[in-house]
Amino acid sequence: MRKAVIILPTYNEVGAIEQVITEIYRITKENKNWEVHVLVVDSNSQDGTQEKVLKLIKKLPRLTLLQTEKKGLGKAYVQGFQQTLERINPYLIFEMDADLSHDPKKIPEFLKQIENGADFVIGSRYIKGGSIPNNWGIHRKIFSVGANLVIRFGFMKPQITDWTSGFRAIKSWLIKKAIPHIKNYSGYVFQVAILDFAIKHKAHISEIPIQFKDRIHGKSKINSIQYIIQTFLYVFLNSSFIKFALVGVIGFIIDFGISFLFIEKLKYAVWLSTLLSTETAIVSNFLLNNFWSFSHKRLEPRLSVYLPNFLKFNFVSSGSVLIQTLGVQLAVNLFGRKLWYIYKILIIIFIIIPYSYILYNKFIWKEK
Ligand code: GDD
Ligand code: MN
Repeated sequence: MRKAVIILPTYNEVGAIEQVITEIYRITKENKNWEVHVLVVDSNSQDGTQEKVLKLIKKLPRLTLLQTEKKGLGKAYVQGFQQTLERINPYLIFEMDADLSHDPKKIPEFLKQIENGADFVIGSRYIKGGSIPNNWGIHRKIFSVGANLVIRFGFMKPQITDWTSGFRAIKSWLIKKAIPHIKNYSGYVFQVAILDFAIKHKAHISEIPIQFKDRIHGKSKINSIQYIIQTFLYVFLNSSFIKFALVGVIGFIIDFGISFLFIEKLKYAVWLSTLLSTETAIVSNFLLNNFWSFSHKRLEPRLSVYLPNFLKFNFVSSGSVLIQTLGVQLAVNLFGRKLWYIYKILIIIFIIIPYSYILYNKFIWKEK
């Protein structure tokens, strides 16, 4: 029998905790393949959550309580992971909310996925069969769906639909490896950090649908503004996207600088200067992207690999020139010449940047 530990982080969950725990035991006690433990990580609740848990510990086997300072959900989980790895050393660890938003009846489905070879199972609200509560306000709905879209495309992993879900089963070896990375993220954003880490370490990820229910007792501890900022910051700093965008800016400066030098100072023909400057920028973009933005997918240093990919890169770049030329002309025809630079900027941001980023990922710096 393999061991699994379900970690329930709590802060003032006295209204729900007993039901969550008894339900977990009811669902898992018949399971022949798994010995299920529960660890409640409580951050100094003031409402009697700990007392309730201590009472349950007297009745139920394999239930423990870890008391921590209130320093954020990420910190609570990391402390829970560390204690679990030291004392129980299970094969599998669950993350699960303790406010009944996550249905314990789903646990066997997670276990099945692990038995079938997954390393990391996500309970997703955004695949077929999953859902978010109907009564969530429009803001929360937009934020949750929007954040997931930004992360999915920021990391070029659209197939993973729920990056922020807090209902997951993760193999211990992966958590052990991830701890040094996720230690830096004390809030809810650690969920994104651990998943990003797992993907970069080639874990086998799978998703099952969950129906997230609105809590009945108590209230949410999420600080939305902080969460939004930290999440976007994480994506920007940890995906190749921001580096790719900076390379674009550097390329623009090189292009402009060389054109200026050759046209204004050296008095070369305009066409020749432009050709020189654009091609130099293309070469520098190619090298910077290869050695920096997409360094985790760097091309093999052989001419037979570089040459075709450099040609593809030129091809994609010519595509950008064509799209820009046609796009700006079309906009000017439709709306007049006056605001041509606005159209140019909009086309670059909304068409050229996604276009090149997606094509680079798909055709040049492919996933290995
Ligand atoms: N120990 C501890 N310390 N527990 C905490 C803390 C903390 O600082 N903050 C929150 N919790 C516990 C709550 O008591 C609850 O059991 C669980 O963590 C989730 O917290 P909620 O406050 O209920 O989060 P939510 O429902 O708003 O957010 C849900 O969606 C997020 C993303 O969309 C959760 O499923 C999150 O896990 C998820 O990341
Ligand atoms: Mn909740």
